[in-house]
Amino acid sequence: MNEQPTAQAPRFVVFEGIDGSGTTTQQARVAERLRARGHRVHETREPSTGQIGELARALLAVVPGRPVTVDPAALALLFAADRLEHLTREVEPALARGEIVICDRYVISSWVYQSLECDGAWVRTLNARARWPDLTFVFDLDPTLALARVAQRRASTGQVVERFDVPQTQRDLARGYAEVLADQLDGVERVDASLSIDAVTEAIVGRCIAHGL
Ligand code: TYD
Repeated sequence: MNEQPTAQAPRFVVFEGIDGSGTTTQQARVAERLRARGHRVHETREPSTGQIGELARALLAVVPGRPVTVDPAALALLFAADRLEHLTREVEPALARGEIVICDRYVISSWVYQSLECDGAWVRTLNARARWPDLTFVFDLDPTLALARVAQRRASTGQVVERFDVPQTQRDLARGYAEVLADQLDGVERVDASLSIDAVTEAIVGRCIAHGL
């Protein structure tokens, strides 16, 4: 039988990074690998699939001919509200059942994305009540490469263009994530997202195992 997480092992794991850095692809792969080690894993994401999250996602979509009208501060409040609702409705119950939760985007997304248009300290205050994850992997990738990946994905899937899919914005976001990494926060680790898909999975799974999973 495989070991269950110990009291110290991380259970709330978050993937962060600019659009196209590969968090969504890696979430499914890492979850599979952890399941093969005997863990029960709950995969989730933010904006969440709850009502507030769906509203945030709808407001992010860039519709041709429709000007981007949503107020940045209102959007920051929506992401923070979605986060608390997501924690209560989905994340905390899964953790209470003894599952490992892997969340695609979380608090650091708000810090980095919403701080482009709102006061950074205010954004952090809004999110201060959201529990800090045990482990956060920040996917580090050159924004030019990331945007190329996003363009390819959107062309092949017909996925909508979103508010932040702009080269200069992606460069600013990459700088924001680099600043967060430089702060060496508790449980926050850098992942070299320029490696092959397999190598990134190996790197993350290796870190999870090193942390006791
Ligand atoms: P994303 O994970 O890219 O979803 P999808 O792959 O379906 O497009 O998230 C949607 C966008 O939401 C992304 O551009 C980042 C943005 N976002 C914020 O601005 N703040 C937040 O707090 C979160 C969670 C996401």
